[in-house]
Amino acid sequence: MKLKGKNVVLGVTGGIAAYKACEIISQLKKLGASIDVIMTRSATEFVTPYTFQSLTGNSVIVNMFESPKYWDMEHISLAQKSDLILVAPATANLMGKVANGIADDMLSTTIMASDKPVVFAPAMNTKMYENPVVQKNLKTLEKLGYHFVDPKGGILACGDEGKGKLQDVEIIVEKVKEILTRNSEEPEKDLEGLTFLVTAGPTREIIDPVRFLSNHSTGKMGYEVARAAVNRGAKVILLSGPSTLEVPFGVELIRVETAVEMYDEAMRLYDEIDVLVKTAAVSDYRPKEIAKEKMKKGERNEEIELTLIRNPDILLELGKRKGANKIHVGFAAETHNVLEYGKDKLKRKNLDFLVANDVTEEGAGFAHDTNRVHYIHKNGEMTSSETLKKEVIAQEILDRIMIERKTKGI
Ligand code: CTP
Repeated sequence: MKLKGKNVVLGVTGGIAAYKACEIISQLKKLGASIDVIMTRSATEFVTPYTFQSLTGNSVIVNMFESPKYWDMEHISLAQKSDLILVAPATANLMGKVANGIADDMLSTTIMASDKPVVFAPAMNTKMYENPVVQKNLKTLEKLGYHFVDPKGGILACGDEGKGKLQDVEIIVEKVKEILTRNSEEPEKDLEGLTFLVTAGPTREIIDPVRFLSNHSTGKMGYEVARAAVNRGAKVILLSGPSTLEVPFGVELIRVETAVEMYDEAMRLYDEIDVLVKTAAVSDYRPKEIAKEKMKKGERNEEIELTLIRNPDILLELGKRKGANKIHVGFAAETHNVLEYGKDKLKRKNLDFLVANDVTEEGAGFAHDTNRVHYIHKNGEMTSSETLKKEVIAQEILDRIMIERKTKGI
């Protein structure tokens, strides 16, 4: 009974696969979930509300305007009561409405009034599914955090062959189970009261109004550390170089472009923080001169020289200011001699531990969702991780920070 005590709102829209909602209800009920069904009017052309009423043991809602006195607030109360909304089958029409903010029936209104996870299991004709307008709506919804169980391929009810068939009921139920059990595990707020400064992403060193020097960092590792720390109760300031990543909810973001800007902000913020996590790939040098106008190549310039000057080493400078009550975590991306260089950086930059990785290894480094890292601690401990998702490594880093704090008695 994995879903005991969970409330699922099942939205059924008008498609030939509507009858499969019966099997979904029966499987969810076996897992202990309580189910309320909302049907669109066209769904009632395929299955009657009485079928769902008998299967769920709850009343089935079709039209929000049928008896205003009772239904008026129903979409709000159902949205609040539910732990998850599943729409199966989900038509192009329903998803199109949600993607564009249209709430004109009970189902679309309930979805709009809910802040709980929503899962769509689309089912429709292949051509319709592949229609760029539909695809655009699906992408919009995905970006906004809506979940999907993609349809499968095969021969459709209309005779066409291709993608568009409602996914297997087992797979849909598995997705619901996964989200509901994941969300029920509230992370422990063990970082409450601590302020983190996480630096992330690359820096850009300006050459002229159209050019800069930079590196391949995307910011993924730092953004995951920031997200994990906020979820565990910390106050997090994310000092980020240019990145296209979504800013984790609850994080205070400060955007910078150059290493010098990052240095200035880090210096300014340093007194108010307890923990520094420096994932940013800071450029060690910057052009000595920034051209005010675009540099032209000129007729005879086969070779040009760009003079670079050293940027401040932010971690090293903050290391000099570090008091006994702070924890500093550095990162190092190397292509060779990872441990040897790592040990040197740990000492030079006055760190509690360093997270080093070999960017030439498979599944590690820039722009990957995974990483394989080596932890090098001040006390001499050295451990290598498996290749893990960056979000898992982020949790490991936070665990190690907490251990360092305990060891220091802070
Ligand atoms: N770092 C920094 N400021 C810099 C350069 C690096 O704060 N100007 C920080 C990075 O954010 C990272 C750590 O120092 O946490 C190590 O960065 P890395 O580039 O690997 O080390 P460097 O000291 O620059 O050494 P090298 O380039 O010689 O490998």
